[in-house]
Amino acid sequence: MEKVIDEEKQGESLVLDQKAGNTKKLFIESYGCQMNFSDSEIVASILYENGYNTTQNLEDADLVLVNTCSIRDKAEQTIRKRLQKYNAVKRDINPNMKVGVLGCMAERLKSQFLEEEKIVDLVVGPDAYKDLPNLLSEVEEGRDAINVILSKDETYGDISPVRLNSNGVNAFVSITRGCDNMCTFCVVPFTRGRERSREPQSIIAEIQDLHDKGFKEVMLLGQNVDSYLWYGGGLKKDFVKATAMEKATSVDFTQLLDQCATLFPKMRFRFSTSNPQDMHIEVIETMAKHHNICNYIHLPVQSGSTRILKEMNRQHTREEYIALVDKIYEIIPDISLSQDIITGFPTETEEDHQDTLSLLEHVKYDFGFMFSYSERPGTMAARKLEDDVPEEVKKRRLSEIVALQQTIALERTQRFLGQEMEVLIERESKRSDQQWSGRNSQNTVVVFPKENYKIGEFVMVKMTDCTSGTLIGKAVGYSELMN
Ligand code: 5AD
Ligand code: SF4
Repeated sequence: MEKVIDEEKQGESLVLDQKAGNTKKLFIESYGCQMNFSDSEIVASILYENGYNTTQNLEDADLVLVNTCSIRDKAEQTIRKRLQKYNAVKRDINPNMKVGVLGCMAERLKSQFLEEEKIVDLVVGPDAYKDLPNLLSEVEEGRDAINVILSKDETYGDISPVRLNSNGVNAFVSITRGCDNMCTFCVVPFTRGRERSREPQSIIAEIQDLHDKGFKEVMLLGQNVDSYLWYGGGLKKDFVKATAMEKATSVDFTQLLDQCATLFPKMRFRFSTSNPQDMHIEVIETMAKHHNICNYIHLPVQSGSTRILKEMNRQHTREEYIALVDKIYEIIPDISLSQDIITGFPTETEEDHQDTLSLLEHVKYDFGFMFSYSERPGTMAARKLEDDVPEEVKKRRLSEIVALQQTIALERTQRFLGQEMEVLIERESKRSDQQWSGRNSQNTVVVFPKENYKIGEFVMVKMTDCTSGTLIGKAVGYSELMN
């Protein structure tokens, strides 16, 4: 299932430079979305200042932290299994090891975690990471510790994250936290709280720091980036109460993106995630204006049926979504789009499913992230709707969607053949140490012979062959971003 990324499977242990004088060892592992990986960099940075260096060896660790995901039941099961592994290590090898759970599962299960999973000493929600040093003191004194308080204004804007497991080329910079959309299937508004934006100056300062360290590409991150709005701090929903001055000096996503691209003309920018109802045409126009904003938008749709979209409390119809996509293609014809789709949402019929397939045919996404509906406790869908699509039907519909997306992806990738495209070199190809791997502006992976080029360089690559997910080419020189 190429191009179908099963988010919840990506466990990754992280390392960073060691700080002299730090004597304790932290093993930190992340699951789920990019925001979690970015948050782990913030957590490591906080603990780095409090005596902890990271280790990649679980058996050595004084403290094990797992940054968790609750988006689907499978994600939570993966983490429960990981906890069993920690348990075995603690029992057999490292009895003094402490274990903490961070992120969405911590927020969702709260103190229940301490009761259910005896191995867990520490439970910390996504807005409480600054409290970690205090909580660890509690743990050291032999008490369980918990902080799952969600915040109105925490954005960690004042913390400069350490870059973990970094290639020195790509970095995440978070710009908003939380989500106010309340899609009925989604646990995120409960685990990550209300939407708030980070101060633009701290975002620019972080990008400046990345720039100075030689990073070349920044992904601006948020649950809902198009909804970014800075007016001096506080929740997005309270903007209505802002003073005239605060309103006049507010900064929205278009302005932020424009500033980033203008201030750092030799870096490339991406952003994720966009929600159709909050996406403004000005964002697309800003993308069109700047060569260094990548021509790629992740634009989740969830379903192609207006009836299901309504049940999901998505704030748009199928027709409105299509109109938006058509407008985007009109402004940036060579853009690539990707989707998130949930199949088997309660009450979904064969006709609704056909609507999803025909939407895929119309939009022609380059990539897709497709999931079976997983009922999440506490969400509106769980409270109001019966999870009534049988598992085998969900499975069959998912495989039909994935198969169609695969066919479309191949067509979409083939459109690049014969073109010379700008590629940022990110790493050695997994298949050959003679080849580089990078991405074009449209986010498609490109592999080509290394010759004398280096990681972090922007090169023009002529595309000669492809699979559905990867372009194969040959470099023909440096791109204009290298001048
Ligand atoms: N079941 C299945 N998929 C879900 N997603 C969010 N909640 C659920 C759920 N309960 C998917 C959506 C979202 C992506 C991050 O995860 O497609 O866009
Ligand atoms: Fe969840 Fe919807 Fe918010 Fe995305 S926009 S995080 S799916 S509530």
